[in-house]
Amino acid sequence: MEEKLNNLEPVNIRQRVKTLWLVWFSFSAGLFWLLQFWYQYYIYEPGNFAGAWIRSCALAGTTLIATALLSSIIFKFHPAWAGQWHWRRRLGVAGVFLIILHVGGVLKYGYAFNLAMIFFSWNPYLNPVLFGLVAYPILLAMFVTSTDWMVRKLKKWWKFIHRFIYLAEVVIVFHATLLGGAVMKSFPGYILYILGSLVILGQVYWWFRISKLRQFKNLGFYIGLGLIILLGIIFYLK
Ligand code: HEM
Repeated sequence: MEEKLNNLEPVNIRQRVKTLWLVWFSFSAGLFWLLQFWYQYYIYEPGNFAGAWIRSCALAGTTLIATALLSSIIFKFHPAWAGQWHWRRRLGVAGVFLIILHVGGVLKYGYAFNLAMIFFSWNPYLNPVLFGLVAYPILLAMFVTSTDWMVRKLKKWWKFIHRFIYLAEVVIVFHATLLGGAVMKSFPGYILYILGSLVILGQVYWWFRISKLRQFKNLGFYIGLGLIILLGIIFYLK
């Protein structure tokens, strides 16, 4: 019996430490959103609750997702830190959670749940919400498959699903810059621009470096090239 208890203890301690970190992280992410909400509600457009909700969730969520993506790049430069991958997952999950609240806010305050209004135009430059709608199912799929259980169950499919984030990134860039407008030229927007640029620079750097090592014969090279071309086409047609 005593032996059994001794064996269990370290597991319990590890579980408690994990829970404490999770509580601390959730609190910090919540505080980060609250700060963004405070800025939107009291400084950017005082008194506009709906706008503050939609923008704070969008900006805080996208910033957390960008930080998660940046951590992947940092781990590549510093493989010794790769053991901290769970932070990337927590950042990503918190980011997508806020995007769910962003979309919920848009549906409630922007469209009064009249879904047909979302599709008032099929031209994504006139209606950049369409860019967001392409990214949304990708982020949702990543969100629901973010648990250890899902990683085990899905095996190689897990990586397949999570690689769609690169496509999501392309459309999010256009969604956020076309719809964000003035808010992207304020303090939270600048933070997002800086993080987003670092992510894109870092990803392109590693894409090129890894492809060069594989003599540009790897699948990742063609996928990356395809995405860069797609980004160029969307930008050109704008
Ligand atoms: C899936 C990923 C999405 C991300 C990362 C994202 C992120 C953003 C960002 C950063 C902005 C600019 C800041 C702002 O003005 O709020 C924004 C604006 C906006 N998004 Fe999204 N969004 C996503 C999906 C969607 C979807 C699916 C919808 C519609 C159902 C939507 C509707 C809007 C609207 C209407 C705005 C303009 C809000 C305003 O400034 O008044 N977004 N989004």
